[in-house]
Amino acid sequence: MTLKHFLNEKKRRVEEALATSLQNNPSAPAELVTAMRYSLEAGGKRLRPVLMLSACELACGSDEPALQAACAMEMIHTYSLIHDDLPAMDNDDFRRGRPSSHKQFGEATAILAGDALLTLAFFEAARCGRLDVVLEFADAAGINGMVGGQYRDMEGEGKTLTLDELQRVHAGKTGALITASLRIGALLGNAAPEVLHALTHYGRLLGLLFQITDDVLDVVGDAATLGKSVGKDARTKKATYPALLGLDGALAMARATADRAVDALHDLGPEADIFRELARHLPDRNQ
Ligand code: IPE
Ligand code: IPE
Ligand code: MG
Ligand code: MG
Ligand code: MG
Repeated sequence: MTLKHFLNEKKRRVEEALATSLQNNPSAPAELVTAMRYSLEAGGKRLRPVLMLSACELACGSDEPALQAACAMEMIHTYSLIHDDLPAMDNDDFRRGRPSSHKQFGEATAILAGDALLTLAFFEAARCGRLDVVLEFADAAGINGMVGGQYRDMEGEGKTLTLDELQRVHAGKTGALITASLRIGALLGNAAPEVLHALTHYGRLLGLLFQITDDVLDVVGDAATLGKSVGKDARTKKATYPALLGLDGALAMARATADRAVDALHDLGPEADIFRELARHLPDRNQ
């Protein structure tokens, strides 16, 4: 099966499960649920839930045990995007090919839609009945992970960070959820410790690689293909890989990171090929 076919098939499973995830809340304010749906169902690559399902399948031969947690992860990611776009943060008007949540519904609703997605995600995650999984979610989403990284990202605006400092921003704001997606998939598939270890190492590198290419696409990408605005990082003096290393330097770093991600899987067999292919493909992604 080609990488594209495999990813599309997993994405379809996630979309199906997501479509039912918001149906059982009849007493919630309808407009708020509409705002949650608006962002959650707008598309997106679904990379994190797809990684989770794939890690679970690698561990136990089925992605079924991770389906609910995969939806929870996509809710957390979607909330992070809604808040990332707010005027107080990146002030971006477009997301996933549509006006951003605050443009469509106003800031208060956008903030609350994000809050509600985060909370619903923990409700869904807890229903797995696995405390280790809930702890992974909490650690990755919070101050040691995504939120901490977002704070460092805002703090880094207008500054020239060292490579280590920049890597710390990226590891937090993007790497944490990507790594947790792989780890949670592996945990729910009851993976052997060496598989969990390899996927964790791979996830850290893949997360870094993904954000380096996100930074590159903000310079060279096409807004319509990406479904979000481009050129903002330079205008707002964000600390990014292209700003620090130049475009060629950032691309070289992406390729070197992809190689390291593939190396992280050296103890795994051909059943991990899909992860190897994904890492090799990411430096050339256009969306
Ligand atoms: C965008 O994530 C924000 C980052 C962490 C780089 P994605 O590029 O995965 O966004 P969607 O989910 O496809 O919209
Ligand atoms: C956002 O990074 C990371 C999170 C939302 C946690 P960016 O600010 O670079 O993401 P885009 O470019 O707006 O998607
Ligand atoms: Mg941001
Ligand atoms: Mg942003
Ligand atoms: Mg970006």
